[in-house]
Amino acid sequence: LEQAKRPSVIWLSFQECTGCTESLTRSHSPSLEGLIFDAISLDYHHTLQAASGDAAEHAREDAMKEHYGKYVLVVDGSIPLDNPGYSTIAGISNLDMLKEAAAGAAAIIAVGTCAAYGGLPKADPNPTGAVSVSDIIKDKPIINVPGCPPIPVVITGVIAHFLTFGLPELDSLGRPKAFYGQSIHDRCYRRPFYERGLFAETFDDEGAKAGWCLYKLGCKGPVTYNACATTKWNDGTSFPIESGHGCIGCSEPNFWDFGGFYKAI
Ligand code: SF4
Ligand code: F3S
Repeated sequence: LEQAKRPSVIWLSFQECTGCTESLTRSHSPSLEGLIFDAISLDYHHTLQAASGDAAEHAREDAMKEHYGKYVLVVDGSIPLDNPGYSTIAGISNLDMLKEAAAGAAAIIAVGTCAAYGGLPKADPNPTGAVSVSDIIKDKPIINVPGCPPIPVVITGVIAHFLTFGLPELDSLGRPKAFYGQSIHDRCYRRPFYERGLFAETFDDEGAKAGWCLYKLGCKGPVTYNACATTKWNDGTSFPIESGHGCIGCSEPNFWDFGGFYKAI
């Protein structure tokens, strides 16, 4: 019996910390195993693939040729423009590899704040001249899935949604509205304390112990759009604010340069 072919996905990792892949492996719905065994053919991912060296690069080239115009390109990490030699794979600069792979892609999913907006490598003074995928590729649909890293089920959920229904509705920063349509502050369980003017002033005062709002300790929840307060992390266990630390705005462009994680906005 001939089986229907699973759609090809090519995943490229540039200037990144592998945190996005770490997050991907923790997705529970769909799980990574469910995704790669049942839904997609992950033809290249240099952390997860079994092949290495020439065999790995041939797998990428073969998939690009065989599925030209149809594969989904996923990118994590930013791209250095100041000196293409800052970051290379198999001797190929990130810039050249991105352009070549983007040419045959049906769409690009930029996973993580580095791929979506430049992220940590772009933080002042941006020593590598880091830019985002959408700074370079202008002729393909791009879905931004920011976060440092993004929530596991948001990564797999966006891939599954694209393969099932096509492009999701996006906000002005290219993020799927289903996951990034509301601010952390909109859905935060500490919001009633904010409304009543009850704020923790230090991390160990009575307000902090009573679970009051973390705004005065630098929480960026009011200007950060992400699903942490609803989907949460670790299979729905918790999220940064629930563990006692303010949101640092990791799904927003330039969050490293906001002016201090512990300064109120
Ligand atoms: Fe808003 Fe942050 Fe306070 Fe939650 S802890 S209510 S997100 S300011
Ligand atoms: Fe990032 Fe804020 Fe969520 S720091 S992980 S967007 S609560």
